[in-house]
Amino acid sequence: MAVIENAKVTVVGAGAVGSATAYALMIRGAAREVVLYDIDDARATAEALDLAHGAMFTGASEVVGTSDVGRAAGSHVIVVTAGAAQRPGQTRLELVETNARIMASLIPSLVEASPRAIVIIVTNPCDVLATLAVEQTGADPARMFASGCVLDTSRLRLALARRAGVDPRSVHAHIVGEHGDSEFPLWSSARIGPIPVTEWDDSFTPDELDAIATEVRTAAYSVIEGKGATNYAIGLSSTRIVEAVLATSGRSCPSRRDSRAPSVSTESPSRCRRSSGPRARCRSTGSASRRPSTSCSRARRRRSPRRPRRCGRGCRGDSFVRACP
Ligand SMILES: NC(=O)c1ccc[n+]([C@@H]2O[C@H](COP(=O)([O-])OP(=O)(O)OC[C@H]3O[C@@H](n4cnc5c(N)ncnc54)[C@H](O)[C@@H]3O)[C@@H](O)[C@H]2O)c1
Repeated sequence: MAVIENAKVTVVGAGAVGSATAYALMIRGAAREVVLYDIDDARATAEALDLAHGAMFTGASEVVGTSDVGRAAGSHVIVVTAGAAQRPGQTRLELVETNARIMASLIPSLVEASPRAIVIIVTNPCDVLATLAVEQTGADPARMFASGCVLDTSRLRLALARRAGVDPRSVHAHIVGEHGDSEFPLWSSARIGPIPVTEWDDSFTPDELDAIATEVRTAAYSVIEGKGATNYAIGLSSTRIVEAVLATSGRSCPSRRDSRAPSVSTESPSRCRRSSGPRARCRSTGSASRRPSTSCSRARRRRSPRRPRRCGRGCRGDSFVRACP
């Protein structure tokens, strides 16, 4: 998948989630340069070396492991995975005290090193920590948000797909709410292909839907019980969000923004991109838009809904290709 040329992505935390995220970024070619930062220098260096040894087979040309936060400078996107992880049976919210302390020490220096970066908080409880991080730094909530329910949505689609006997990519359904024990599926909009899930066949009874919701909500507990951590799917989910931010995937993600971001519902799909990203092109003339074609909240505020944007050559604004999801 094409992304911003020379995109630099820093992954903070080289543990199970951070290293899986760096791996997914590499094999999907989502970033040209991946920096893996951790306070544990030996771990970060070793993980990066192991990843770099596979560079011949991937798109990323540079993978750096470091305990020097300065190496994160100039990142386009920062994915934060550092912090305490759930132990078997522990809830995400029980991590808040420890991880809030870690975020308070980490985020300001990361933002100082990369003031234009979009920051994605994966560390749990990710929605709470993202809100705290915005408060602590005064960052624009559209530039600092949580990975939210992207992973849970993937789990939901898998559960539905397996029952229906279809590819998960043919399932359109979302988990919303706080990533954790209070999240829930939007059954009213859930579809398999174009067919509402409840009309697919008789097996999707209310009881069965409840069972699926519980299965998704407790999925992490089952994985942690067996192997101590969840990492591969969150690595892929985080990479999906990075691709959306870097503007070329055309995907929407149920990641979470702070509720104070104007004109964006807290559960709205992530539709943000870097303001310095590639320009949108007019379908008719091929000319680049002066303003980024973005649905991020700041751009929405600037734009009046009654006045379609024009590319300067007479085309209606709605003929612009939206490069970002
Ligand atoms: N949002 C999601 O969907 C999701 C999914 C899975 C896991 N998680 C969360 O991701 C986090 C990481 O999980 P994990 O399994 O990788 O844990 P882990 O223990 O394997 O790795 C954590 C890493 O963070 C590093 N670290 C700790 N404090 C740091 C600091 N101040 N600066 C830099 N690095 C620091 C540690 O050295 C360690 O390498 C946990 O909070 C977990 O709950 C979130």
